Amino acid sequence: MNRLFIFDTTLRDGEQVPGCQLNTVEKIQVAKALEALGVDVIEAGFPVSSPGDFNSVVEISKAVTWPTICALTRGVQKDIDAAAEALQYAKRKRIHTGIGTSDYHIKHKFNSTREEILERAVAAVKYAKKYVEDVEFYCEDAGRTDNEYLARVVEAVIKAGATVVNIPDTTGYCLPSEFGEKFKFLMENVNGVHNAILSTHCHNDLGMATANTIAGVVNGARQVEVTINGIGERAGNTALEEVAMILKCHKGLNIDTNINTQKIYSTSRLVSSLMNMPVQANKAIVGRNAFAHSSGIHQDGVLKNRESYEIIDPKDVGIDDNAIVLTARSGRAALKHRLSVLGVELSQEKLDNVYEEFLKLADRKKDINDDDILILTGKDLTASHRIKLDYLQVTSGKGVKSVASVGLDIAGEKFEAAASGNGPVDAAIKAVKQIIKREMVLQEFTIQAINRGSDDVGKVHMQILHNGAVYYGFGANTDIVAASVEAYIDAVNKFVK
Ligand code: KIV
Ligand code: ZN
Repeated sequence: MNRLFIFDTTLRDGEQVPGCQLNTVEKIQVAKALEALGVDVIEAGFPVSSPGDFNSVVEISKAVTWPTICALTRGVQKDIDAAAEALQYAKRKRIHTGIGTSDYHIKHKFNSTREEILERAVAAVKYAKKYVEDVEFYCEDAGRTDNEYLARVVEAVIKAGATVVNIPDTTGYCLPSEFGEKFKFLMENVNGVHNAILSTHCHNDLGMATANTIAGVVNGARQVEVTINGIGERAGNTALEEVAMILKCHKGLNIDTNINTQKIYSTSRLVSSLMNMPVQANKAIVGRNAFAHSSGIHQDGVLKNRESYEIIDPKDVGIDDNAIVLTARSGRAALKHRLSVLGVELSQEKLDNVYEEFLKLADRKKDINDDDILILTGKDLTASHRIKLDYLQVTSGKGVKSVASVGLDIAGEKFEAAASGNGPVDAAIKAVKQIIKREMVLQEFTIQAINRGSDDVGKVHMQILHNGAVYYGFGANTDIVAASVEAYIDAVNKFVK
């Protein structure tokens, strides 16, 4: 079988999505889950872009053993210097550099010429080679790049030492037949093409990312760049789980990966929960309805023989259909088992804390689902917060002015304030501001219920502007005013040290 390398960019292209930013601890958690899933390469960030990204690449490099750690750069020396420094602790390291090669990019982005871009591409690879052996070059907007010129660039960067050449469909424009042809053309027309691996990197703007990726593979690509749940800018990137399961189902393609497909579901849940990005119910492979047969004809067929309507056994992606239903009477062992199915391993002390919170939630909510449980484990993260919500009391209703009293614990010291406002959340945030006394502008505020019932946990996501920088906060509670204040305080904790 031909081996296909899986390059995961959840923590780089995926993490660029507004509102999906993770802190370093969360990124390490995702990186370790990706390692357990069996990905070959983890693109851990774009080090020159921010100190946070730089630090995440450093910490992921230390935490992960087996996969290659990759850092993104533009084709400029200062980016490559930063990437090399951030990768210093990686056991296997790769610099991913590149430049736009379509005429749109050459003329409008760089105000340059094809010849000059070719020279810059070669120079970037040669410069990166001074630091690492494994250099990947991306031809940005390759999907809309003229094939003859693309072949010249690919040939030149391979000659300069690129070990992998990435052919991204940056705008998600190509048809599968066109994208497949592009790879065929490169395989047939680039001298030395066998000295490097060609990679796909597809975006889903027209819903063709996975089809394009498979077309690339059928025509010679031996690396695919993907994200968990297909998250990524705009309509997202190719979903890792889709490619892995297509190759598993279509043995005739004769392509093998190192993915342990039974870890797909837990990794999907982890990424969705940490990034506050719900998976659409009908998402292929990992959506809530992906294996739910509701029509009578289908149910009858599946009961007689699963293969009548199912091409994938849910167990192959780690969906445990005999999952123990958790209720207020469930013990620690049941909770621990469910957490391990979801990819979360906790110390005994943390498990005890989460179990306490679980029992409180189970008293208020009869149907505890996987998202609720993951949120409870996330709650533990607030333990390191300097500012904590001690108590919150609000009076609100139709025809009355909303009033809130808030108690905060700031590094062990207690503070209280009360305020009135235009609704309970406004009143509570005004009270918090009286205590924190910083310039803070609430830019975005979304409330989302995880399931459907009125007893559901509300997830609140907030974006706050402070001193020109944006900070994200998250809160989850069956009381949405409390969830909102928790999200606000979560964001504030990111800049009040
Ligand atoms: O979509 C794209 O072209 C990219 C490159 C930076 C690899 O993400
Ligand atoms: Zn991309």
